[in-house]
Amino acid sequence: MALRRGFASSLWLRLVWLCFLTGHIIVEAGSPNYREALSKSILFFQGQRSGKLPRSQQITWRSNSGLSDGLLANVDLTGGYYDAGDNVKFNFPMAFSTTMLSWATLEYGGKMGSELGNARAAIRWATDYLLKCATKTPGKLYVGVGDPNMDHKCWERPEDMDTARSVYSVSPSNPGSDVAGETAAALAAASMVFRKADPKYSRLLLRTAKNVMQFAMQYRGAYSDSLGSAVCPFYCSYSGYKDELLWGGAWLLRATNDALYLNFIKSLGANDATDIFSWDNKYAGARVLLSRVDYILGVNPLQMSYMVGFGANYPKRIHHRGSSLPSLTTHPQSFGCDGGFQSFFYTANPNPNVLTGAIVGGPNQSDGYSDDRTDYSHSEPATYINAAIVGPLAYLA
Ligand SMILES: *[C@@H]1O[C@H](CO)[C@@H](O)[C@H](O)[C@H]1NC(C)=O
Repeated sequence: MALRRGFASSLWLRLVWLCFLTGHIIVEAGSPNYREALSKSILFFQGQRSGKLPRSQQITWRSNSGLSDGLLANVDLTGGYYDAGDNVKFNFPMAFSTTMLSWATLEYGGKMGSELGNARAAIRWATDYLLKCATKTPGKLYVGVGDPNMDHKCWERPEDMDTARSVYSVSPSNPGSDVAGETAAALAAASMVFRKADPKYSRLLLRTAKNVMQFAMQYRGAYSDSLGSAVCPFYCSYSGYKDELLWGGAWLLRATNDALYLNFIKSLGANDATDIFSWDNKYAGARVLLSRVDYILGVNPLQMSYMVGFGANYPKRIHHRGSSLPSLTTHPQSFGCDGGFQSFFYTANPNPNVLTGAIVGGPNQSDGYSDDRTDYSHSEPATYINAAIVGPLAYLA
């Protein structure tokens, strides 16, 4: 289930994110190899790829998938990332992951060394898809592909999936300022990542970001009002859409320096209280929590690394369809929707494919981790967990 998201994963996310924002990271003695962790945290995104895989694909147990995504709306929406252990493309968390990866690259790209190219490639895999979503049909922003309720009833490889690849969109009559604000943020942040590396692509990203932000600002509403069970309870914007309008406006302001966005941010009343100051309040709490950051990579009571493929002891039964089912190479026949459950979901055997770099939801409050595939809140990885840790790892590396 990508039925989000257990206590543990949100705790991770909050921890690493706050750590990233404050820039306060406590490095303990005997620290793990952060450069290796950085490399793996980025490599993970290759395991989440949808679409036609390039020759440079290094996670080789994955193959092409979702090649007809968009067909039900007569557009090409191939590419992008599966959000977690399932085979759905949810643009809301995908865009957030892209914003976070871009932010990490903007702040710490200079410290990434040879990983900088890989970080850019991970961002571009998402932005190529988000650009399609924003430009293929005038007046529409596509916000997801794949029926999550049908997908979650199956345990099958992305390469085999046969559930409806429904296409979801927002438009002036069915707005989604939450998902549009986040998409604009992602495109604007990425435009800065590519400003020098690929100026033409950067300009396309920024032009599209402005259009998407305009749509988010002009047509206010929550995407869940029109999309209902296709996005809830998976990725409802429980916090409302004002934070994404602020976030998107802030990224557009940073990317353009245009007073239009400054005035827009002011018009949201963001200066008058809660939003900004609540971040300040969290900083203090973060200091206490930070002593647990190195934790993820194995400095913990179980001496367990919660990054797959990192260190000697790491999760072997992650809640991830592709990782838990034999690859096309070893098992060419399709498993069908539910053919994978008995032998590969409800089994104590380790996953046959190592999803290198994946960070799982993590241990429970008593530092216990049962490494149980069926316990998704603890054993499922997600793009936005990894996206949030790339910056801190680059800083540490
Ligand atoms: C935490 O996980 C361990 C190992 O699976 C288990 O024995 C323990 O009961 C769990 N504790 C809580 C509070 O869930």
